[in-house]
Amino acid sequence: MSRHRTSDERATRAAKRLERRAGGPLEIAIVCGSGLAAGICERIDGSDLPYAKLDAPATAIAGHPGFARVGTWRNKRVVAFAGRIHLYSGHDAWDVTYLIRLAAAVGVKTVVLTNAAGGLNPGFAAGDAMLVADHLNLTGTSPIEARANDPFVDMVDAYAPHLRALAREHARDDVVHEGIYAGVRGPQYETPAESRALRALGADAVGMSTVLETIAARALGLDVLGLSLITNVVGSQNPVSHVDVLAASQAGSARIARIIEGTLTAL
Ligand code: HPA
Repeated sequence: MSRHRTSDERATRAAKRLERRAGGPLEIAIVCGSGLAAGICERIDGSDLPYAKLDAPATAIAGHPGFARVGTWRNKRVVAFAGRIHLYSGHDAWDVTYLIRLAAAVGVKTVVLTNAAGGLNPGFAAGDAMLVADHLNLTGTSPIEARANDPFVDMVDAYAPHLRALAREHARDDVVHEGIYAGVRGPQYETPAESRALRALGADAVGMSTVLETIAARALGLDVLGLSLITNVVGSQNPVSHVDVLAASQAGSARIARIIEGTLTAL
């Protein structure tokens, strides 16, 4: 990672392309977690721009197709990023948060970060949804470490309480937990000892994304709603596989989409 990065000209240029396609500034960006893109994008009335047109780092994992759906959802002008950039693919924290800088550059004020996560809280079952109330950044890195002039960012209420309240209020029949998301580098899943340690640290769910994006978003002054779909119960005797995680998140994507839709309606 080069030193002293504060602005991102690549994102600023790509933002012009995105804004042209959208026909103006956008209000909300949604980052789709593994297997969640189809359920989210089908509700957005608009068109797709491949990541290559947005100069985004390549995503190379099943469940992360790599395009932006630009359009309207519940009268909000939104962009949904179908394809996340992960540390575990070899990207650094700056690349992982490219989409957040791009979103900020098109005028977005609210980002919805969705993810597939393993459940650590014994009260959680596969298919449940969890609003992220707080996180543990266990990736060992940060997207803002090279901000020479302004390195410090407050992380209290990083997941906006008012957005969480709206999501809860409008979740209707969907049961929504609220909890702490532990963000790890992956790509290996947790050992049983690691699962116990994460639980002892207070985590309710664990995944390989979201935390760096939240830090980048807060550094840019954006409000964050974090939403996890619990795809598997960590520490159960069953081994975890990406194929099973994807199948579970595809099955639960409608639930995540409904919760976002309820929140958008109320915003
Ligand atoms: N661990 C880490 N990341 C995950 C998991 C898990 O069990 N499930 C989905 N993403």
